[in-house]
Amino acid sequence: MFVKSFGCQMNVYDSQRMADVAGGQGYTETAEIADADLIVLNTCHIRERASEKIYSELGKIRELKQERAALGLETTLVVAGCVAQAEGREMLRRQPAVDLVVGPQNYHRLPDLLREARKGYGIVDTEFPLEDKFDHLPVATPEATRARGVSAFVTVQEGCDKFCSFCVVPYTRGAEFSRPVAKILAEIESLTRAGAREITLIGQNVNAYHGEGENGAANLADLLAAAARVPGVLRLRYSTSHPNDMSDDLIRAHAEIEALAPYLHLPVQSGSDRILAAMNRRHDVGAYLDVIARARRARPDIAFSSDFIVGFPGETDADFEATLALVREVEFSSAFAFKYSSRPGTPAADVKEQVPAAVKAERLLMLQQLLETQRQAFNLATVGKRFGVIFDKAGRHAGQLIGRTPYMQSVHAEADVSRMGALTEVEILGLKPNSLSGRVVARLS
Ligand code: 5AD
Ligand code: SF4
Repeated sequence: MFVKSFGCQMNVYDSQRMADVAGGQGYTETAEIADADLIVLNTCHIRERASEKIYSELGKIRELKQERAALGLETTLVVAGCVAQAEGREMLRRQPAVDLVVGPQNYHRLPDLLREARKGYGIVDTEFPLEDKFDHLPVATPEATRARGVSAFVTVQEGCDKFCSFCVVPYTRGAEFSRPVAKILAEIESLTRAGAREITLIGQNVNAYHGEGENGAANLADLLAAAARVPGVLRLRYSTSHPNDMSDDLIRAHAEIEALAPYLHLPVQSGSDRILAAMNRRHDVGAYLDVIARARRARPDIAFSSDFIVGFPGETDADFEATLALVREVEFSSAFAFKYSSRPGTPAADVKEQVPAAVKAERLLMLQQLLETQRQAFNLATVGKRFGVIFDKAGRHAGQLIGRTPYMQSVHAEADVSRMGALTEVEILGLKPNSLSGRVVARLS
């Protein structure tokens, strides 16, 4: 079996869970796609380019499948994820080599679906089932978890009820759903028992989390506090958040929970109130800056990252200038910027005033240059400081390990392999193009 993941962290997590399901059916992962009798593409629909990439990928796999067939080898080709959910049966028409199209809510049905798909007539399952898929997905074996390293994702919330006018997620991932606290904690425990040390709680709207707790509903702050108490958890993160759901409790969690990284990915999309309204973001620039200020008061060393869209329908030069002004005001440690991509079925796709491609390209470049300057300034400011680093892989040179600072910066240092997965105090010595160099100062765990 070979699983190829596109798109967000949730797809990475889902790919692992699909590998776990297939593992239970006797499939083992192959290093090469050409050796796999089961190929799963876990797809992303967020921008047009992401979706189109899937079809060129499928074309290549079709040839591979024919070559394998000539050798008498069968290959089952599965398309999962958000393109599968959005296009359903249309995928079988566009690429007949596909055997199974399965949406993100139906991975727990894979054993039955695969059995059917192997019969060779195309199968589609993109329903939103009534049962909770998490109750039916197998837990990863300790071996599989160990192989995945010390940093692990756990889906705690899925779906979105916000309906930003540019976004497909409410359609591909469905309505908001939060998993119960006890089940999440059990999953974290099994991860840490197998060596995971850094846990990222993920959800399309993770800070809107409201799951069943021991005494009624729990919010994300409650969940983080409980997760921090699980033995073996050295660092916690959560992603992705909406500014409107940054509750006082959650901001306080940043002051109170030691394991929680002082880092927040908080997409704002635009710095223009007019565009934010057209995007149906339901907050203005003032409200965003207020969240930033509250978070900084609670945790002065907190750093922010964000997502931006340039060239949203109707965006003028003045709107774009307002975005640059917001970036200058906040100073992000890193951020992603995208050209607006019109997505079928979303309200913004119907707006007539689309921004010309050349203007989008020019704005993207300008914004990315500004963000890159800020990223470098942030990295430079960490030189000479000390951070807790969890080493998670071997460096390029012997005796070197690579890990991440609380701010997601990659750092390498001379360290004994026994420090792998432990929290180690590292002083930052200097900057390399894509990472920091540091030296080990002390053991923290
Ligand atoms: N066009 C461009 N970027 C988009 N994003 C979501 N939808 C679109 C779209 N239609 C970006 C947003 C979001 C990130 C995951 O992808 O910035 O935060
Ligand atoms: Fe892409 Fe969004 Fe689906 Fe993640 S949830 S795979 S970002 S479309």
